[in-house]
Amino acid sequence: MIETERLRLREWREDDWEPFARMNADPRVMEYFPAALTPEETAAAMERGRAHCARHGFGWWAAELKETGAFIGFIGLAVPAFEAHFTPCVEIGWRLAAEYWGRGLATEGARAALRYGFEELRLAEIVSFTTVGNVRSRRVMEKLRMTRNPADDFDHPRIAQGHPQRRHVLYRAISYQLSAIGYQELNGA
Ligand SMILES: CC(C)(COP(=O)(O)OP(=O)(O)OC[C@H]1O[C@@H](n2cnc3c(N)ncnc32)[C@H](O)[C@@H]1OP(=O)(O)O)[C@@H](O)C(=O)NCCC(=O)NCCS
Repeated sequence: MIETERLRLREWREDDWEPFARMNADPRVMEYFPAALTPEETAAAMERGRAHCARHGFGWWAAELKETGAFIGFIGLAVPAFEAHFTPCVEIGWRLAAEYWGRGLATEGARAALRYGFEELRLAEIVSFTTVGNVRSRRVMEKLRMTRNPADDFDHPRIAQGHPQRRHVLYRAISYQLSAIGYQELNGA
């Protein structure tokens, strides 16, 4: 379990299913995905998440607001299941219920997840990607001081050719031990 000032990133529980399904059915949350998820698709996603954690020892963690104990979404690290020019790799990602947006929670949780990836998992690099127009998610990547090289942009192989969300941007973070960005800076100091 990872704790930040306002968040707990933890293993999934059965009672996360309902708020998770509600979040995945919300068109605002799923604006930059091909479609909102049906309850069956959410159940399948939860199962895939469990299998990923069992296999790798890390994954999308359930994000809980410490103040209320509410499930607010997920933040975590995962191994993408598709092939692209930057795979195999570990990605960092996030999805929060809309009522929790705009309070810096994604950035706060992701900063701790990055630290976990570098310090505990000893990863040399962590990437993040999203469709070009997802400015909120890109802003989180930028606040984490991840960097984008336009030459890394790619067409997501799981999204149909010609689909407006197929083009993706890739951001990278390299371990502070390898980078000019110091530990303090990575932690937002
Ligand atoms: C992406 C997401 C997790 C961000 O969560 P959050 O807790 O609101 O993120 P933060 O508050 O840490 O940062 C969001 C930043 O985006 C900025 N932002 C929000 N709306 C914006 C807009 N329309 N245009 C530009 N920037 C915007 C915010 O101002 C903030 O930046 P700032 O701190 O410099 O002001 C959340 O919007 C979400 O769950 N979206 C749907 C799922 C999704 O797209 N996930 C990512 C898939 S790759």
